Amino acid sequence: VPAGMEIKIKMKIVETIAEVRAQVKEWRAQGLSVGLVPTMGYLHEGHKSLIDRAVAENDKVVVSVFVNPMQFGPTEDLASYPRDLEHDAKLCEEHGVDLIFHPTPEEMYGDQFYSYVDMDVLTKELCGLSRPVHFRGVCTVVTKLFNIVTPDRAYFGQKDAQQLAVIKRMVKDLNMPLTITGCPIIREADGLAKSSRNTYLSIEERAAALVLRRSIFLGKEMVEKGERDCKKILAAMTAEIEKEPLAKIDYVKIVDLDTMQQVEKIDRGILAAIAVYIGKTRLIDNFIA
Ligand code: PAF
Repeated sequence: VPAGMEIKIKMKIVETIAEVRAQVKEWRAQGLSVGLVPTMGYLHEGHKSLIDRAVAENDKVVVSVFVNPMQFGPTEDLASYPRDLEHDAKLCEEHGVDLIFHPTPEEMYGDQFYSYVDMDVLTKELCGLSRPVHFRGVCTVVTKLFNIVTPDRAYFGQKDAQQLAVIKRMVKDLNMPLTITGCPIIREADGLAKSSRNTYLSIEERAAALVLRRSIFLGKEMVEKGERDCKKILAAMTAEIEKEPLAKIDYVKIVDLDTMQQVEKIDRGILAAIAVYIGKTRLIDNFIA
């Protein structure tokens, strides 16, 4: 348990790559399967659902808690990103996690680091446009976590739908020997998608943020009722967001579920995805059809 942490936790929390490797080696020697839930901490119900699935499907479960500097742009919220390891450790222990890997940036990247995992096409759309270094940072850190933990299965939320598509593609393209499982979006009682960034919202902004789910539910309903013209669906979703004075649209798009390229007609698996600033906080939401 890191210095300064007061609560009694039986579950192991380690900060070094060597300790993770030693533990996984021991499990492997016993023939046990290993699941990994990569996170940036400040765990909420969405993470809980990933952890529960991982615990149900694997003999041992590792949760990584690492706010990865490489996936934040220079003007993004790296410094203010919420952190609470005690809360995370408690939640993990209660949910049957076996090991938390909580490395420092130095442990992960040393003082010199020159190797990246990058991706074309899928990362050039949606969040990739406003966050140009983001997916390179995600692909690189996730590859490192896969190499460190060597899990049989890893779990990611459908809320970050483009991230999930990118990671599935990376694993396929680069023959990484594990299974990627996507888990459904978990919402607050009023429909706001759970996100660690929801904590940034003032009371007024929290109410305004419901415009994301109104737009998503509206688009989803149109598709369910048989609308296939993306222009019409996007126009309705956009108009819904524009009703909210505190909201500023980053994007509202419908893309092919595998390639993340925009489509005009819903004639295959699609992702409808939105990114909206509520004040200074950038929130995302989506549905798949
Ligand atoms: O989804 C996240 O929390 C992060 O992007 C991930 C996958 C843990 C990589 O840092």
